[in-house]
Amino acid sequence: MSFAIAIDGPAGAGKSTAARRAAENLNFIYVDTGAMYRTIGLYMLEHQVPVDREESLRKALDEIRIELGYREGIQRMFLNGEDVSDRIRTEEVSAQASVVAAIPAVRSKLLDLQRDMAASQDVIMDGRDIGTNILPDAELKIYLTASVEERARRRYQEMVQKGAECSIEEIRKDIADRDYRDMHRETAPLRQAEDAVYLDTSDMTLDEVVAEITRLAKEKM
Ligand code: DC
Repeated sequence: MSFAIAIDGPAGAGKSTAARRAAENLNFIYVDTGAMYRTIGLYMLEHQVPVDREESLRKALDEIRIELGYREGIQRMFLNGEDVSDRIRTEEVSAQASVVAAIPAVRSKLLDLQRDMAASQDVIMDGRDIGTNILPDAELKIYLTASVEERARRRYQEMVQKGAECSIEEIRKDIADRDYRDMHRETAPLRQAEDAVYLDTSDMTLDEVVAEITRLAKEKM
């Protein structure tokens, strides 16, 4: 029997970094489902697919083959055989991922892939609808969040460290827009599962978040 941990929450709450490190502690596979939506978003951008036209969208989805691989324990995303892990991290792809994630045909394409991964191995899977929709029977569910201000501040610091020019006000607005789209879409909107542990990380360090996820998991194992 495999053990599944579902972590959901809004953009920029620190889910991926915390989940990846907790997965290392627990010797679980970490699955970043946002990267899958980003990969589909990247394809649509690069092929200029008008995603609001059903016929074009369907054709494009048929042409997309998504695979996950691991290199030194880090998840890599492959789009039709090509490693796109770095290219899916731009702001443009973030915005497009959020648009395609609202489309039911896109979500159903990813559903089986995500469930299959959790069926055969111990996973920590992060996303928006993992506890509510993809893995409703997950042994542990966590809703990880932080205030919009704190998430914007963290993102701003990250960008500044990379030497990028940006305005904190713009980042704040991007985050708030993305939250709105993710929480108000009709299909599988972001919300806390009833049986999820609520974890507000606004005043927590990354180490504290990792320790708390690891503790909660060990309690259930
Ligand atoms: O976590 P992220 O920023 O990489 O996610 C990219 C987009 O995909 C984001 O707008 C939310 C969406 N997403 C989703 O709808 N469901 C998931 N399980 C994961 C991500």
